[in-house]
Amino acid sequence: MSKDNKENITIKIDGIDVTVPSGTTILEAAKKIGVHIPTLCNHPDLTAKSTCRICVVEDTGSRRLKTACNQPVDSCKEIITNSKRVKEVRKTILQLILANHPQDCLNCIRNQKCELQELTQKENIMDNPFERIYEPVPIKDDNPSLVRDNSKCIKCGRCVQACEEIQASKAIGFNGRSTNYSIGQAFDKATDESTCVLCGKCITVCPVGALREKDDTEKVWDALANENKFVVFQTAPSVRVGLGDEFGYSSGEIVTGHMVAGIRRLGADKVIDTNFSADLTIMEEGTEFLGRLTNGGTLPMITSCSPGWINFVEKNYPDLIDHLSTCKSPQQMFGAITKTYYAEKLGVDPKDMFVVSVMPCIAKKYESKRPEMDASGYRDIDVVLTTRELARMFKENGLDISELEPEDYDSIIGHGTGAGTIFGTSGGVMEAALRTVYEVVTGEELDNVDFEAVRGHDDFKEAEVQVGDIPVRVAITSGLGNAKKLLEKIRKGEADYHFIEVMACPGGCVGGGGQPYTIKHDAREDRMEGLYKDDKQHDIRKSHENPEIKEIYEEFLGEPNSHKAHELLHTHYRNRYTKA
Ligand code: SF4
Ligand code: SF4
Ligand code: SF4
Ligand code: FES
Repeated sequence: MSKDNKENITIKIDGIDVTVPSGTTILEAAKKIGVHIPTLCNHPDLTAKSTCRICVVEDTGSRRLKTACNQPVDSCKEIITNSKRVKEVRKTILQLILANHPQDCLNCIRNQKCELQELTQKENIMDNPFERIYEPVPIKDDNPSLVRDNSKCIKCGRCVQACEEIQASKAIGFNGRSTNYSIGQAFDKATDESTCVLCGKCITVCPVGALREKDDTEKVWDALANENKFVVFQTAPSVRVGLGDEFGYSSGEIVTGHMVAGIRRLGADKVIDTNFSADLTIMEEGTEFLGRLTNGGTLPMITSCSPGWINFVEKNYPDLIDHLSTCKSPQQMFGAITKTYYAEKLGVDPKDMFVVSVMPCIAKKYESKRPEMDASGYRDIDVVLTTRELARMFKENGLDISELEPEDYDSIIGHGTGAGTIFGTSGGVMEAALRTVYEVVTGEELDNVDFEAVRGHDDFKEAEVQVGDIPVRVAITSGLGNAKKLLEKIRKGEADYHFIEVMACPGGCVGGGGQPYTIKHDAREDRMEGLYKDDKQHDIRKSHENPEIKEIYEEFLGEPNSHKAHELLHTHYRNRYTKA
């Protein structure tokens, strides 16, 4: 190892010189020369805790093996990643994990997408000298969104870290002692009684099949097979850039038309774009915001379309509930409109309607079950599927969407604008709102609808936009750990903003807990880019210019924030304070 005066380190890894900045881990340095050291507990979104030791390597300057995921190259002499000793240790660690694992891969949700399975193959493990000590434990299935099967848990700790480091929720931890410990809510509390907000971040980081969404596909198959049911699907903005991952598209590719065609092949009576109700949200939320701004209402006003975020405020900051917009999420607005206005237009009895949402999110399952979500006189949404569940349904029916001719959404209430599509990414709701609020207040057309200041991957984004006489200060964040910092500022009276957008998942819905599994750190970024590209492809890019939106106000709702709009499209929140 040698160091230059620019703090770069040159070190030999497997006999090849590599130069990296001081502090680079062995894992990252090896990657630079095309050597991929296996990992299990390590995840690019989390700090390295080094619990599994699968990434061990030899350092000729030390007798002990080193863990590559957290050890910097600075302290090493020369690294060997593939010696016999290293390989044997890795094999032994894996064999010990497998001895205590069900290995029922064939009917496991993560089959072919499992990091343990992949590693077992890569390390060429064909047998196991260790005695099988695996014992099944009961599955925890006590909520509408998330299922925990600790029989499959390899105790890597990623879920606990994600819940604490990224989502600031501390809902789960290590229970029990010694080798008998397990992961779960403290004292194995019911999920609803814990601080869990059902965001699903833990699912997205779990390397195996221990955590998954509650599978609701059977309910949808039943409805599709029932000739008395009129089945309407809606698909959320970010699903169109996530679903392709399951069908061999490159990350972030827009697959809208193929997805719509696939849903029709499943037997849906209508397929509608949630972008329509995203536009509706902008009309309602923008009007609510302007009302608060001019009538001295509670500011900053904070967006309310992310149900994991709503759960977080209700459970941790009930004193700040008045800051939340009263608008329902686009998913729920859609349900209320479908079983009233749309049913009437189609001449279908709403009691026979079965509304299926396809969402990037597991918290939406919980949201649809909230008792107040029955504004239509029925359950507004019958079933929520994640992007992953929709992909499973396609596969179950032998459909590869890449082979289908693209089709368009149904009208009416079926079409959204570019503003609706960017709801799926952090900053998108704010940008869509600004496009409309600016034009409504000033009566002038925007020269440029792209608000670059609210875009991008930063944890916090802020901007000041002159709207008529008022310099409107806005802030955007995603990930509940980041949101918590903003909430603390609001509590202290230090958040000098008028309008804040918060999404529970990092990057917004593109990184949602129901999106296809990926360990690729930049998948979110690819999906984000996909949505901005989709926005640009729309002829209409402002919610208030959507002809179907104009029509629904003229024919049914009256005006934004009208009495009828309040009945159907707005809601209230509850104090559900829960001690961590
Ligand atoms: S978690 Fe992975 S290794 Fe375990 S049963 Fe499922 S697919 Fe197989
Ligand atoms: S769903 Fe979210 S809040 Fe609940 S345990 Fe998982 S990461 Fe934590
Ligand atoms: S549930 Fe998954 S992420 Fe959590 S410790 Fe177990 S294997 Fe790791
Ligand atoms: S991946 Fe390095 S210790 Fe687990």
